[in-house]
Amino acid sequence: PVPDDHVVVLFGATGDLARRKLLPGLYRLARAGLMPRSYRIVGSAPAADALTDEEFRARAKEAVAAFGSEPPAGEHWQAFESTLTFGAADPDDPEPLIGAVRDAERAVGGSPRRLYHLAVPPQAFASVVEMLGRTGLAQGARVVVEKPFGTDLDSAKALDATVHAVFDEDRVFRIDHFLGKESVDNILALRFANGLFEPVWNRDHISHVEIDVPETLGIEGRAAFFEETGTFRDMIVTHLFQVLGIVAMEPPAALDAKSLRDEKAKVFQALRPVDPDLVVRGQYEGYRAEPGVDPHSDTETFVALRAEIDNWRWTGVPFYLRSGKRLAERRQVVTLHFTEPPLRMFPLAPGHRHAARGGRRGNTLVVDFDDPGWIAAGFLVKEPGPTMRLTDARMSFKYADSVQRRYGLEGYERLVHDAMLGDQSLFTRSDGIERLWEVAAPLLRAPRPVEPYAPGSWGPAAAGELLAPHHWFLPDER
Ligand code: BG6
Repeated sequence: PVPDDHVVVLFGATGDLARRKLLPGLYRLARAGLMPRSYRIVGSAPAADALTDEEFRARAKEAVAAFGSEPPAGEHWQAFESTLTFGAADPDDPEPLIGAVRDAERAVGGSPRRLYHLAVPPQAFASVVEMLGRTGLAQGARVVVEKPFGTDLDSAKALDATVHAVFDEDRVFRIDHFLGKESVDNILALRFANGLFEPVWNRDHISHVEIDVPETLGIEGRAAFFEETGTFRDMIVTHLFQVLGIVAMEPPAALDAKSLRDEKAKVFQALRPVDPDLVVRGQYEGYRAEPGVDPHSDTETFVALRAEIDNWRWTGVPFYLRSGKRLAERRQVVTLHFTEPPLRMFPLAPGHRHAARGGRRGNTLVVDFDDPGWIAAGFLVKEPGPTMRLTDARMSFKYADSVQRRYGLEGYERLVHDAMLGDQSLFTRSDGIERLWEVAAPLLRAPRPVEPYAPGSWGPAAAGELLAPHHWFLPDER
């Protein structure tokens, strides 16, 4: 589908997110033929950072060269570049932006839709929204709001009040780019388009679930942001709980935004508030010496926790969530661990990695949702030979080589396109966000001290004990 004609305004156009994701993403959409027939992109920033149109185009070109999937060259780039203009805006001097939006609308012709993407720090947020309301620029417009949506329940409510004073909820697009990942969206198809998986997707057949997102990156110069935020808010409350919502939700009656988000909200309602005793907070050694970090900082760079969903489908099935900076590997995986058959009739082959542990032999279903993603089922087969004994086997599907990836959109690309279409299915809703802050509250109120871990490791040892008698799928079980 091709969106209506648009003027897209990018607040924070000189910032990191615009450079890494949004400008390359918009170009990718243009190359894939997914931008509107006619459109303009207006970059904006405070007057102190104002650029000329030419400077903005040069920056966009640099960004696409550094982070885009295709080089900014030839007629495609020229056509895209000609849609870029700049209009500075300060809360008390919005005139340059107003002028730039009017010019852009004239250039598009007719009455294009307006989409404002607020890639600005949370502190700048309210003043931009109020300015849009005051100047009339908000009229009929949609707004894309970047995370984090507050830092706790009260601040999230305050943020919503600010936004809702200017934009009705059906015009608010709260972005969580994990929901735009192809393989996360595919969890819906895997579950609800196949007769094979959904019948066993419940407490009768699943013993526990992992949502595991280790990262190798550190804080990448984002000390000011990270010190205030930490991994629990940055990754668990924001991204991993959203993935949990999709893994755990009931089948929606339809695929529209309301049905999907209603079902996700029900999971969040049933999610038990986090028990601080079932959380391991870690901090990598050396974090306190990073530029801009408090030498006594207690901010966590690692979290592993056990979550429980008190509903019919999931009671008694723990969901283990883990994410951290500077860990041994970058991965993004959901692993479902299935219960064992009632009787152990078969010996394991000698040397089988579970033989020594006497541990579990349940099947696994692994969804790797890092782009481009894959799915694998782990099961046991007879080892070829004269005796009946078991060894591991795997069935797998890889997006990279099994399906024609016609568009191959990244999370941000997919979501910006959806926002232009007005489809809120993959955006978060205020009731869901607020419930997640309620779930997070006990840990935010009473965090246990952080435990140090060596960079390049898998985090504090206590994170392993959290799963006992089981083991994390990574790195040992795969
Ligand atoms: C961001 C977090 O939202 O997501 C970062 O702020 C994190 O700390 C990133 O590294 C992970 O996203 P991706 O694109 O690597 O899946």
